Amino acid sequence: MDFPASLIKSLRTARKIVALTGAGISAESGLATFRDAQTGLWSKFKPEELATAEAFQRNPKLVSDWYSWRRKQALQAQPNAGHLALSEMEKHAPQFLLVTQNVDGLHARAGSRQVVELHGNIHRFRCFENDCPSENFDIPHGRCGSCGGHLRPAVVWFGEMLPPEAIENAINAAEQCDVFFSIGTSSVVYPAADLWRRAKNNGAMVVEINKDPTSLTPLADYAFLGKAGEILPELVKKVASDT
Ligand code: OAD
Repeated sequence: MDFPASLIKSLRTARKIVALTGAGISAESGLATFRDAQTGLWSKFKPEELATAEAFQRNPKLVSDWYSWRRKQALQAQPNAGHLALSEMEKHAPQFLLVTQNVDGLHARAGSRQVVELHGNIHRFRCFENDCPSENFDIPHGRCGSCGGHLRPAVVWFGEMLPPEAIENAINAAEQCDVFFSIGTSSVVYPAADLWRRAKNNGAMVVEINKDPTSLTPLADYAFLGKAGEILPELVKKVASDT
């Protein structure tokens, strides 16, 4: 694959790089995205029945079972070449922040160290009723040992705020970076979908890597249409090489 020399030069000299990822980065690990026609989770399931606090209140078992199923899939999946390339990129950049909308934990398993999880993590839990500390959780029974309440996955549901520290870190990093990557995300869910604009408004170069075009594609400085697991390793290799 041919990459523009100007992009390679910018990546070699960049001091601060931010990479925002979405479900597309984990697609090659076998995990479903949300909005791909036919295969996306939201083409098969209704978010209002599974991914809201009201849904959990109505039917905690249904919601918990759905997240257990997804948790199991995430545990069985392996990080792919795209995840690994991003952990490699982090090693070579003076400052690097991986901001992900994914809850699957695959970036950390691939070796990425500076990771901000905007939408939480499916492998962690919270007490639904009282937000009790996690030391007392009976995870196999889905109960909080402190108050007897239900345990819910520590992910962000529709209608909920993002973890304040996570979004604050992501915004600060986006506004200060030299290069901003948007990878495997449809760029429709805010506030994540706004981060590239904040980066661009502050002078960063914006690079998109996505299987399908998005609203960002015509506005990005560089847009590569294709699989992250194929494009990212080649890009990282090229940046690390002498030529
Ligand atoms: P989407 O399903 O909306 O978008 C995934 C994007 O990845 C699409 O644009 C695909 O074209 C692209 N894609 C698929 N396979 C790819 C591959 N191998 N390489 C590169 N790109 C690929 O997922 P997100 O943008 O992550 O929120 O969705 C954002 C949020 O919406 C999720 O975090 C979730 C969902 O509702 C919550 O659950 C809070």
